[in-house]
This record gives sequence, structure tokens and C-alpha cells, in this order.
Amino acid sequence: MVEPKDMPLDAATAEHRRLTAFLQEQNRAYYQADAPNVSDAEYDANLLQLRLIEKTFPQLISRESPSQIVGSAPSRGFGKVQHTVPMLSLDNAFNSEDLREFEGRVRRFLGLAPQEDVAFFAEPKIDGLSASLRYENGVFVQGATRGDGKEGEDITQNLRTLQDLPLTLDGSRSSIPDLFEVRGEVYMSIADFQQLNQKQAEAGNKVFANPRNAAAGSLRQLDVKITASRKLRLFAYAWGDVSEVGGKTQAEVLDQFSNWGFSVNPLSRVCSNMSEAIDAYRKIEELRSSLDYDIDGVVFKVNRLDWQSRLGFVSRSPRWAIAHKFPAEQATTQVEDIEVQVGRTGALTPVARLAPVNVGGVVVSNATLHNEEEIQRKDIRIGDTVVVQRAGDVIPQVVEVLLDKRPVDTEAYNLPTVCPVCGSHAVRETNPLTGKEDVVRRCTGGLVCSAQAVERLKHFVSRTAFDIDGLGAKQIELFYNKGLVKSPVDIFTLEKRDQENPLQKIKNFEGFGDKAVRNLFGAIDQRREIDLDKFIYALGIRHIGQGNARLLAKNYLSLDALLDVFSGDQPDPGKVYVDLLNIDGIGAAVADAVKQFFSEEKNRELLLNLAAQISIHTFDVPDEDSPVSGKTVVFTGSLELMSRAEAKAQAENLGAKVSGSISAKTDYLVAGAKAGSKLKKAEALGVTTMSEQEWLDMIGKS
Ligand code: IVH
Repeated sequence: MVEPKDMPLDAATAEHRRLTAFLQEQNRAYYQADAPNVSDAEYDANLLQLRLIEKTFPQLISRESPSQIVGSAPSRGFGKVQHTVPMLSLDNAFNSEDLREFEGRVRRFLGLAPQEDVAFFAEPKIDGLSASLRYENGVFVQGATRGDGKEGEDITQNLRTLQDLPLTLDGSRSSIPDLFEVRGEVYMSIADFQQLNQKQAEAGNKVFANPRNAAAGSLRQLDVKITASRKLRLFAYAWGDVSEVGGKTQAEVLDQFSNWGFSVNPLSRVCSNMSEAIDAYRKIEELRSSLDYDIDGVVFKVNRLDWQSRLGFVSRSPRWAIAHKFPAEQATTQVEDIEVQVGRTGALTPVARLAPVNVGGVVVSNATLHNEEEIQRKDIRIGDTVVVQRAGDVIPQVVEVLLDKRPVDTEAYNLPTVCPVCGSHAVRETNPLTGKEDVVRRCTGGLVCSAQAVERLKHFVSRTAFDIDGLGAKQIELFYNKGLVKSPVDIFTLEKRDQENPLQKIKNFEGFGDKAVRNLFGAIDQRREIDLDKFIYALGIRHIGQGNARLLAKNYLSLDALLDVFSGDQPDPGKVYVDLLNIDGIGAAVADAVKQFFSEEKNRELLLNLAAQISIHTFDVPDEDSPVSGKTVVFTGSLELMSRAEAKAQAENLGAKVSGSISAKTDYLVAGAKAGSKLKKAEALGVTTMSEQEWLDMIGKS
């Protein structure tokens, strides 16, 4: 690379423009989409190059230059908050020499005598996102993101959901100033991040690249409920606009923060001079991999506040602080194979099997490749040499492929289009709203795929589906592990097989016995008859809840009809699909899922086998002449003469629409015991209300 000082102005201008565009794009990806597409190291290197050019050619510096802006402007959707005291960023040191130079600059600036020590406060640099919290007379009144440092987003409501954010300050040990803006880092613990990602993956939602992005994505949610459901935490470490600081040193102010009720990082400490500070860096680095949160370096702050204010700021960072970043934990290795795992919900996840390599003290031999799009974007192939990175205890990631090391005979990698576990088709759904393909490829053989079987079986027997007494999640796990129940059909042949098998008798299993086994078989027999809508719901087809199952039952009337329609022998399959879409209430995602399910050969086979064991009632067409046909009814309170499910089914069979909430369109409210707000609202709206008995009388079922 040409050094900026050796560049002619026009080359420097062009390079400056290129770097500016690149950094702006990355800022957007990082701060607004929470989806960085380059490593921090690559970002830092580009920013450094831009700075070097600006140092040689100061005429290229503009207010818009990425060197002058912290992060990027706020994204839309939240109110804006002006930071009266700007939220700044920190200069970086990469080694002890940089730290010594920092100390030298501080000493020179303050004009200190050689024998005078500078004490530094060392704090872990938390890898999260900073927030400013405004307290007026000890009450949390406003919280904001950093944004571009001058203007951030109002995320008060989101911040209120953080457990370790005191809504009022505890003034019992440190007095509370009229105004105090506490600043700190919002982060997610590694354990919470992993749990969140697992949930996200299972639901087919975006997985986050690291805890920092998960924290950012969780904090900046317009729907505060989402923020509340994600476990975010906060470490307080700085302040903005204040009426009174309350201390003479960084350490004292942080003590005051803990007195007020904030979490202050327990590894932070005062170092009497730079040698101690360097020592503190090493100690924190050693602890890094054992921490339950990501840190990416150590921040050193001049401890004395009178010195901090004399030192002041340069452009976007304080002269009194510096961050010593940890070297990225990266290593180079080879992709030996790409394997595909199938999750409990059928999501196919590619995993790279790597030649074992030591990354920052941990041997890594697998890396998640997330999904097909990730593989394509990075063009990762079997045989490639790749850079892997480990952040904290998080699953290692492939950062990039070293293309110059690629062997000649590699091929682009595509995920299999059939499930590696069961052989059913694996598909990517199209989102009907955006027309975009889902990033997750899923196995369509839910019930026949052993990777998904247990979950599906649990659903199959659950209360709202087959509802088999004595056969719950626990028993399904047991029977599955014993090899007795691998598919729903096996439930209905369990008794016969138990009689025929002299070696393994269910009555000998723990928690069973003669009576329990007899009861279980009896309960299974009782469910050999089932309504079509319940049956469809029990299959656990993607997007098919009770409502959609009912719509399908109502429109196709029998399992035979469904099997026939999707048999593949239809003269006009296009029409079959359009008919399905034309059902009022069925959208494209549902239609796709239904089509896929009933067309899949393995599922068809299973359905035929099931139909041989049980009898599925054809759908009872609702009674058009009933007194409640076409009416909207709401059930509320606790019903005593019938279950909620029964009441709903009965009403629907009579052609009524059952709704969960009262509006002016509601015709009847049926109020059971302890009916509350719905009853009040119905009365206020003039909706006809009645007791359970009155309802039964009206529909002639008493
Ligand atoms: S002090 C004026 N202390 O690092 C000084 N920042 O690169 C303001 N950070 O925006 C920052 N841990 O998001 C400070 N112990 C710590 C920190 C910390 C993490 C983040 C913060 C800041 C960025 C600066």
C-alpha cells in the first residue's frame, strides 16, 4: 500500500473518497441494521488509513468525514434526543508502547514533574452499545442511544425494561444531584445471547452475529415488549450533563454509581501509575474468556477529575482516556467438510468441520455457517482456507475465505434440497409480503423426520390436539427413547406391539404398572375417533394453528379429499393451489405450507397409515339456519357448563364467528363466572350479554 505521505493529491483525494464511501456504508450496516459485514479489525484499518490521509492532506477533512462522526445518524422511528454533552468515542492503543505514549502526552499536557505519578482508572471495555440516562431529582426521565454523538434516539421506554437500570436513584448513601446523566454500556450476557439465538433459529428468525448485535437489535425495538423479553444489562462508567459530579476521581464517581443502584464493572480498579495499568490490562485479558459478557479491551482513564477537565477533548475523543483493544482472536485453518444439522423445528443449519486450530487458547474444530445465504455471501467451499474468529465463548465464525489459497477443484457449496436426516424435501419459504425467500431452509417431513419427531409427537398428543390422557411430553420422550413411538402411527399400534413383545413391557417402565398401562391403552382407544380439523391441527404443519386447521377442514371436508387434491395426478395443479389461496383467511405462506405438506410422499404415506388406525370424522358443515348463524360471539369469564374449546366449536358449528375481543360488531357476549372488563365493555357498547345457560337455551342445546 502506498503511504499517504507519498501520494499525489489527486490519488489521495480518490482514495479518501473510496474510504469515505466504504466507512459510511459500514456505519450504516453496523449502527442502523445491526448487521456488520466486515470485521472490527478491517473497519479500524480503513479508518486509520483515512486518518493518515487527512493528516497529510488536511484540506480533505470535512464535517461529513467518517473521522469526524461517531457512528451514524439515528435511524427513523424514534424521537431524537440532543446530547448537551456529546457522547464521544475513545482513541485506541494497540500495545504497551502506545499506552506509554499516551501517558507521555498526558504528562506533557499537564506539565507534570517527573516524580509525580499519574493514577489511571482501568475498566474493561464492554462490547455493547452506549446509552445516556437522564435523572432529574433522582428519577429516570429519559434515555438515549449515542447516535452520531450529538443526537441520539429516545429509547426511554426500552431502557426502562432493563433490570439493572434503577428507575429511581437510591439516595441513602450518596446524595442525589438535581440533574445527572449517567452513561454506560448496554449489553447481553453470552448465555442469554446463545439462548436467544437458539430461539431465533428455531422460529426461523434472524440469528445475531454476536452478543453486541443481539443487544443492539433488542434495544432499538419500536415494540418495547420485544426489548423486555430480551435480557439486557447495563454497566455504568461515565456521565454527561450533571448539576454536580459528586466526586474528585473517576473511582469516587463510580462508587457513587453503585451506591445509587447501578452495576459497575467489578474488574475496574485504580492503578497508581502506568506500569500498574499495563499489569491490569494483562489481568483482565487473562480473565476475558471466563467472563459471561464480551469485552474487547481495557479503557484507561486519568483518575483525577480536575486533570480530566484540564485535558479536555480533541475532535471526537477525550485526551484523558484511551482504549487498549485486545488483539482479535482469529486464526487460519481449512474447511474439511460442511455438514448439515437439522434442528427440532426442521431448520437446516450448515456447520463447517475445520482442521483443528488454536484460536486464542481454545481449540476450534467447528464453526457455524448460519444458513445458505451466509455461505453464498462469503462463498465458503469445502477445501477452502478460512479465517475463523472466536468472540468470548461464542460459537466460532468464519470471517473470510482466503481466495488465493483456494484449491483449483473446489465447487460452490449448496445446501441439500432434501433433508439429510429423513430424505423429505427441504425448502425455503417465500415471504408473501416481501416476496423474499426465507434465509432458513426447512425439512418438510416434520412427522417423519427423526430430528423433529419428538417435538411433533408432543404436539400431536397435546391437549388441543389428540389430547390423550396419560400420554404427555414426558411419556413421549420415554417411548421415543425406547424406540417404541417414532411416529404418530406407533401410538395406535402400541398396545398390540406391547402384547406381542415379551421382552419389553411398558408396565415395567418406571412410573407405570399394570393399571397405568391399561388406562393408557384405554385413553388411546378413546381417541381413535377425531374430528378432521383437530386431526389436521395435530399434524403440526407449519403455520397451521387451530383456526387454519378449521378453515381447511371446512373447505376440504375429508382427509381423502385433501390427499386427492394434492396427489400430483390433478389435471390442473395450478388450480388446486389457487383454490387453496381463495379460501377466505388462507394466505400464501399457509397455502405453501399446506401444499408442501400434503404433496410430500413421506407425509402421504404416514397419513394413509394413520387413517388405517383411526377414524377421522368428515367435517360437519355449519348449520346455516341456526339462530346464531353469521353472528359474532365472545365468551368471557370462566365457563362452567362447557369448556372454552367446546363452546367455541359448538358456536362455530352453528355458523357463528367466535372472537376474543369486544367491539361494536359483537352480537353476543356470553359471560361465565368472574367476567370482568369484557363484560363492562360489552355493556358500555350496548352488546347483548347473556349467561351460559341463556346461550345454551338460545342455541337449543340445554
Ligand atoms: S468511556 C468520553 N468506558 O466504547 C469517554 N467507554 O470507543 C466515553 N465502552 O462509546 C466512553 N466500555 O460504547 C468508556 N468502560 C468504558 C467502556 C466504554 C465500553 C464503549 C462505549 C464508547 C466506546 C468508545
